[in-house]
Amino acid sequence: MQRLKLLITRRLPEAVHERLHSRYDVTANAEDLPFDREALARALREFDALVPTITDRFDAELLQAAPLRTRVIANFGAGIEHIDLEAARAAHIVVTNTPGALTEATAEIALLLMLMAARRAGEGERLLRAGQWRGWAPTQLLGHDLRGTTLGLIGFGRIARETARRARALLDVRVAYHSRSRASVDDEGALGATYLDSLPALLAASDIVSLHCPGGAATRHLLNRQALECMKPTAILINTARGSVVDEGALADALSQGVIAAAGLDVYEAEPAVHPALLKLENVVLLPHLGSATLQTRTAMGMRVADNLDAFFSGNTPPNRVA
Ligand code: 8YV
Repeated sequence: MQRLKLLITRRLPEAVHERLHSRYDVTANAEDLPFDREALARALREFDALVPTITDRFDAELLQAAPLRTRVIANFGAGIEHIDLEAARAAHIVVTNTPGALTEATAEIALLLMLMAARRAGEGERLLRAGQWRGWAPTQLLGHDLRGTTLGLIGFGRIARETARRARALLDVRVAYHSRSRASVDDEGALGATYLDSLPALLAASDIVSLHCPGGAATRHLLNRQALECMKPTAILINTARGSVVDEGALADALSQGVIAAAGLDVYEAEPAVHPALLKLENVVLLPHLGSATLQTRTAMGMRVADNLDAFFSGNTPPNRVA
């Protein structure tokens, strides 16, 4: 029997390639460079299944270009705003993602950014590496305690809750949140979380604001100039969600004018580009989208992809079907 043709658009951990090779006729991307639009269009015509990542944008035009051979797009990652789900449905293409597999790793990066921003870790390392450290001094690079402060979460999904759980244990913070729908009394109780029913109220009450909402049109520039002005001048903004949620130009202005104290970012509006004004600031920590970047997590994400594909091609509903 002819094996199903599968394209993996970026290099994944070895164990994932091995598993997929055992069942499918796999084409991998030896150079590991992001595909251009034409390559994605060709892939939709030539492969039964695609395993793309955040660097592959499937818009309506690409997905409407019938006839397409692809029947399933098994995204490697939780966020799927780079795939037009409505167009995929119209083209009878099933789309899956990998929620759950990256919860802990991403929460960890949120905590890392909180600590780095509050304790000025990036600034300190840059100073030392530049050969400008003159030795210990009592008032050098003073940061701020996070103990007893309020962590305000925007969104209250898996990653937000795990971030809250870990931040309570490690940093001894109080938790508040704002999201489209309120969680159950039990879920709030488990984290001692207070629900605030408006975004400005959450922003005004928080010492650390951590973003955990999906990307896409509905949340684009949720953190704009006006929203940033609702935050405390001592507050820290953390973004491990999607770059599009923050107006980067407005954030750079807010950071340089003292509207807020600091920020920690793992995601950007136009990755891999970072707003040039942010690159010049000392009070922002900038990581290159490391949220899920551990070998164990990226392997687990790949195994999730394989589970979804295997279910689909066995005639079952994939466990993580989103379209
Ligand atoms: C992934 C992420 O590495 O899963 C997500 O939504 O943001 C990342 O951690 C990336 O999306 C891979 O496609």
